[in-house]
Amino acid sequence: MTSPYARITGTGSHLPPRRLSNEDMVAMLAARGVETSDQWIVERTGIRARHFADDGVASSDLALHAARHALEAAGRSAADLDLIVVATSTPDMVFPSTASILQHKLGVHGCPAFDLQAVCSGFVYALVVADAMVRAGSARCALVVGAEVFSRILDFSDRTTCVLFGDGAGAVVLEASDTPGILASDLHADGRHLEILCTPGTVAGGKVSGQPLLKMDGPAVFKLAVGVLESSARAVLAKAGRSEADLDWLVPHQANIRIMQSTARKLKLPPEKLVCTVDEHGNTSAASVPLALDVAVRGGRIRRGDTVMLEGVGGGFTWGAVLLDY
Ligand code: UT7
Repeated sequence: MTSPYARITGTGSHLPPRRLSNEDMVAMLAARGVETSDQWIVERTGIRARHFADDGVASSDLALHAARHALEAAGRSAADLDLIVVATSTPDMVFPSTASILQHKLGVHGCPAFDLQAVCSGFVYALVVADAMVRAGSARCALVVGAEVFSRILDFSDRTTCVLFGDGAGAVVLEASDTPGILASDLHADGRHLEILCTPGTVAGGKVSGQPLLKMDGPAVFKLAVGVLESSARAVLAKAGRSEADLDWLVPHQANIRIMQSTARKLKLPPEKLVCTVDEHGNTSAASVPLALDVAVRGGRIRRGDTVMLEGVGGGFTWGAVLLDY
């Protein structure tokens, strides 16, 4: 039986307990001869702290906590799931997928489970794929997760990147519904810009080949991000036949407060309608949007019936938006 819509019925998130303030980062980097400051990080990014997973804790472990919270909020159990999609660029292994590992940790077996890799746009991409599968009748109760341990791929000798990122996971349960739901989506990629944000390494011949540490040309990413976040926001509103005035909340990828505020200003959205968690989470890549969504839902800001825009942007170069009635 197919239903015309897919709707988020529960959200959840998880941050590893080890919190590093900017001052902790300053001290950690100073010990390596790398200079930074709380003032620079706050002024340029809005970040005040991030969380790092302890050794031995993998993306699937963070995902498991977030998934359990989302299932509980939806009033569902893992046995109800008939689809698991995990967006991650820091999978537990080369293979199998983190989604298969998560399925096993959830104690269920049989439903399709796969990873989706679109870096910081990963959760938005995964939600669009799950929405299409639910509306096509391939699934009725999907778990969509963004989970990352970016601390594992940071170059702590590069102050232009290592102060920006953190670890965490966010999840939603997406279910078939007769009422909307996800209203419209807009996804893009442009591989011409792959070098401005990449982790150029892999495994070959049983050895690490290349340099599997994150590299970013921050100003180039910043410039592209502000443009595509505005164009994607306008495109998704047009597809849904809605306007900026219909928006109750904007939940953008949490990379830099200045990028988020610029998008909100262009959409003429009052600052209080911008959901912002970058100060406490840093940039958690694919986990950032579902983490921020869950914080806003559990904090009582996003309520049933609100119109919400989710936006992702990141390596690839990839970007996209989802408009939904919560
Ligand atoms: O998740 C995917 C999406 N990612 C993003 O959206 C990130 C987009 N980019 C950004 O958020 C910003 O470009 C950054 C936060 C990465 C950098 O901010 P910026 O205002 O573009 O600074 P900048 O790279 O132009 O650097 C300005 C100065 C430089 O010094 P000089 O050359 O002017 O003397 C840097 O060396 O700031 C210096 N700098 C630092 N100083 C202290 C760079 N990193 C640091 C640091 N601490 N951690």
